[in-house]
Amino acid sequence: MGITARRRLKDIDRLSDFEAASRHYLPRAIFEYIRNGAGDEISLRRNRAVFDRWLWRPHRLNDVTRVSTNIRLFGEDYDLPFGIAPTGGAAVMRYDADRIEAREACRANVPYALSANSITPLEDIIRINPKSWFAAYLPSDEDVIDGIVDRVGRAGYRVLMITIDVPVAARRVAEIRAGYTMPIRLNWPAFAGGVARPGWIVGTLARTMIRTPNPRILNVLPEGGPGIFSREIGSVGGAAGFTWAHVARIRECWRGALVLKGILRGDDAARAATLGVDGIVVSDHGARLLDSAVAPLEVLGEVKAQAGEMTVLVDSGFRNGGDVLKGLALGADGVLIGRPMAQACALAGRDGVAFAIEMLGEEIRRTLGMLGVVGVETLSEAFLHDAGMV
Ligand SMILES: Cc1cc2nc3c(=O)[nH]c(=O)nc-3n(C[C@H](O)[C@H](O)[C@H](O)COP(=O)(O)O)c2cc1C
Repeated sequence: MGITARRRLKDIDRLSDFEAASRHYLPRAIFEYIRNGAGDEISLRRNRAVFDRWLWRPHRLNDVTRVSTNIRLFGEDYDLPFGIAPTGGAAVMRYDADRIEAREACRANVPYALSANSITPLEDIIRINPKSWFAAYLPSDEDVIDGIVDRVGRAGYRVLMITIDVPVAARRVAEIRAGYTMPIRLNWPAFAGGVARPGWIVGTLARTMIRTPNPRILNVLPEGGPGIFSREIGSVGGAAGFTWAHVARIRECWRGALVLKGILRGDDAARAATLGVDGIVVSDHGARLLDSAVAPLEVLGEVKAQAGEMTVLVDSGFRNGGDVLKGLALGADGVLIGRPMAQACALAGRDGVAFAIEMLGEEIRRTLGMLGVVGVETLSEAFLHDAGMV
């Protein structure tokens, strides 16, 4: 580990510490883009508060000399029960952030999903990490969808995740006030926040612009993609006209695992199962879209009950090993982590991501020991006491 990374990671004792630490390194507009939630951030707070509802009821006197943290998802084995969630716009956080996260996930053998909203071609990422998943934002035009799905398959991806919770553009106040815009435009708040962070200007902005003078969002079309400074970009996301009928059509032509990300209701899960979808992510997108939505953890049981044979993943608000295990105990097959991984990457690149994965893995092993559980697959609601929401 380099000296800079060691210095920056010195005071990181919990995954949630990455947020405050990254504030000192990132321009305010980008710090807020990662941190903030939609509207009044009611869901952002609830995504954390909901974990207080569930308290552990540990078993005693079980032999926990060796505990197993392995999971199997979509035909692949992983060493830890969590993965790196897709984060669009990763290149603004750190030079080459997509490649860094893909590589570190591969090294640690944890799931990783590339966002469609990225300036790194999806073909490069699957070469770095052959187990990568692709998280698509799809339009409603069937020819364009066919082109994207075909491209993803030809590149070698075996898991296609469709992000289904952004039918219209989201609005997040803190990032707007800090000057974050898409397309990227220089404005006073962004400028003022940027000059205060020369390390980011040299290390991320300048390096990115030298390598890619006109960065484009390269994974939202069958080929090419809109430039991040151009008006054609609009706001990257799904499409208002994208519906279940599109999912049914994609299911017919996509032979790999098909995953829908953004389910928050049991009846939607049941509908996905009838269409032959392989997995769902119970998610409110980290509270970045619809404020005052239910927290994924509080509907996980209902969704799982109607998910049939589908793999059920969950994300939004998971910040320590105990949180991950609560997700599994409540029925999830795996958990995705968003902001902390992005902030770790912003702060210390590959060392930051490796450190975050290792720290979370260690917390999971310790919590399993404390619970008297030898393997994550034996967790169930019987280990939890429902104290109700406070
Ligand atoms: C900066 C940022 C960008 C994101 N971009 C995407 C995206 O492009 N596609 C997507 O499906 N989810 C995206 N998400 C949502 C994450 O995949 C994930 O659902 C969420 O971050 C989980 O919540 P957490 O941050 O509290 O862990 C993004 C999240 C953040 C913080």
